Amino acid sequence: MKKVKVKTYAKINLVLNCLGKREDGYHELSSIMQAISLHDNINIAPAEGIEITVNHPKVPTDEKNFAYLAAKLIMEKYKIINGVKIDIDKCIPIEAGLAGGSTNAAGVILGMNKLFKLNMTLKEMYNIAEKIGSDVPFCLEGPTALATGRGEKIISAPECPSLWVVLLKPDFGVKTAKVYQNMKEYMFKDIKNTDEFIEALAKCDKDYILSNMANTLEKSTFELYPKVKEYKDYFMENASAVLMAGSGPTIFAVFKNKEEAERFKSIIPEEYGKTYLASTISNQIVQERVEASD
Ligand code: C5P
Repeated sequence: MKKVKVKTYAKINLVLNCLGKREDGYHELSSIMQAISLHDNINIAPAEGIEITVNHPKVPTDEKNFAYLAAKLIMEKYKIINGVKIDIDKCIPIEAGLAGGSTNAAGVILGMNKLFKLNMTLKEMYNIAEKIGSDVPFCLEGPTALATGRGEKIISAPECPSLWVVLLKPDFGVKTAKVYQNMKEYMFKDIKNTDEFIEALAKCDKDYILSNMANTLEKSTFELYPKVKEYKDYFMENASAVLMAGSGPTIFAVFKNKEEAERFKSIIPEEYGKTYLASTISNQIVQERVEASD
């Protein structure tokens, strides 16, 4: 085996309850996370040191890149003397609230595990993932899960029925830490019942899913970046199930069928930003994301 290819999928939060600030500065969450078909392609091959190449000028290629950090932690833990060349073909927009950096890190953990035949258990991979960032453990496991703690504690949830997602990424980014820091007492309200939501997933109740999506962080992001609210309002005039992704600024609408989603995508004014059509993904797709090649 000379290299591995990994598809690293983006995520949306169908529910994101931010429950309050903890003593360690992080916020306690309960969130239903869902992987979607929008993904980056990563190629990993043995090399000297850690070398990252990426087809996006704004993505760092040093330790600020979660993929670099993942490689470094694995090399240290498993005493890998040489290193890896990681080539990232970026399709997931950056600073978007879609866990683009986190999913690349999860992909590097999975890919290096295969490339170097490390035979890591899920728990061993998880221990590395949680050191990198709150969303990395979900990206490792997916495709549908309840995330608690600061987002790093993952319990698998029943697979989400197939749904279509139209995403709009405005032409500016959002700093996650800033959104959390701006959370005020009154914003920690309107908490959704995740048990009920999980039951709806088990019953493949698409109507329930579409009418109960919620994100507590929206109020904070809207206050800091009023344009995001403007775009959400536009989405809501034209679609029924609409939410902000993570800490934003991406806004998405969920549809039961592809035609409806395509129709909606085609009317979004170009000046609002870049649009994407994706679908929720199954456990099988997640299981097939790492591929060895010569
Ligand atoms: O863990 P991650 O690097 O994704 O988090 C980025 C920043 O977002 C953290 O440094 C923290 O300020 C904030 N955050 C938080 N509560 C969470 C997750 C993130 O306050 N549950």
